[in-house]
Amino acid sequence: GKGNYRHFMEKELHEHPAVLGDTLRQYLDPKTLEVRLPRLPFDPARVPRLTISACGSAFLAGSVGRYWIEQLARLPVDADVASELRYRNPPLMEEGGAILVSQSGETADTMAALRLLKEGGQKVLSVVNVPESSMARESDGAVLTAAGPEIGVASTKAFTAQLAVMACLAIGFGRARRELSTLDEGRLTQALLEVPGNAALVLEKNEQIHELAAEVAKARDVLFLGRGSLYPIALEGALKLKEISYIHAEGYAAGEMKHGPIALIDSSVPVIALCPSGPLFEKTASNLQEAAARGGRIMALTDADGVERLSRFAERVIELPKVSEISAPILYAIPVQLLAYHVAVLKGTDVDQPRNLAKSVTVE
Ligand code: F6R
Repeated sequence: GKGNYRHFMEKELHEHPAVLGDTLRQYLDPKTLEVRLPRLPFDPARVPRLTISACGSAFLAGSVGRYWIEQLARLPVDADVASELRYRNPPLMEEGGAILVSQSGETADTMAALRLLKEGGQKVLSVVNVPESSMARESDGAVLTAAGPEIGVASTKAFTAQLAVMACLAIGFGRARRELSTLDEGRLTQALLEVPGNAALVLEKNEQIHELAAEVAKARDVLFLGRGSLYPIALEGALKLKEISYIHAEGYAAGEMKHGPIALIDSSVPVIALCPSGPLFEKTASNLQEAAARGGRIMALTDADGVERLSRFAERVIELPKVSEISAPILYAIPVQLLAYHVAVLKGTDVDQPRNLAKSVTVE
């Protein structure tokens, strides 16, 4: 049941710390600070290329995974939504590998992509939440997210659990390919082990997110901006908001604003900026400043090191815990989900059962 929560989505949002802990503990050793991956269907040290495919939020988790795997393991990755991949007739490499991501393990397009990749000689690993699903069965190997049953149609804890698994894979691949030292591995593992505690701190920002939601609920259009591994999280924020509050939202790579979308900016469009401190911070900050100079209402999510810089032009700044680069996309996913939740509640939509949607899309 829902316990003391109004909606399954609210309950599931509050399960983030526990689910992230359970998922990370499967693949990280807190004593040695090493990644322990199960047997994989491809050898990450030798595989020439990976294809990542999935649908919806699961695809966005895979897209963050692509950043991590390319950065930490220097392994080329192609990522595409399953409904496109299956008809794209992509040239696949001999001995190539693939990672498919799914909560249900039953999504029709993802299953079709799986079969196409297998027929094309790729060794397929699935990142899946339901161990007895079709996807887990038909893949050459599976790594499980330990999210437990997710009832709300909009994915919450399953999404962050997918991110946690992708992060562990990326570190493991990085070690296998000797791109990461044991010291790097220890540092990254330590950072990930702090994610569940930080997720609890992020949930404590609920009141501020609720206040932001009151502003967002009045808007007709909303923009989400991010860079690097936060770009897929901007897309996730837009997807969630559309999905459960029916407000039109778009996610953009912050640097793309000036190539078109900045024309949309006026004082009626809230711009939600995902802007943790780090190597890309100043780039994003200056994109935001440009939007603010054109009347844009910047609502920034950042950490202690970003507050001062962004407060110079942002209408609202919400301070999240300062975390390492690898943890930021996992933790910034939580406030964008919370935001969508509160906006939907304010608008009175059916949060757990949004119109026209099903939890598991088993038809094409
Ligand atoms: C969005 C959402 C969907 C699913 C997508 C894939 O909140 O839940 O976009 O992520 O339908 O579903 P699975 O992961 O079951 O393959």
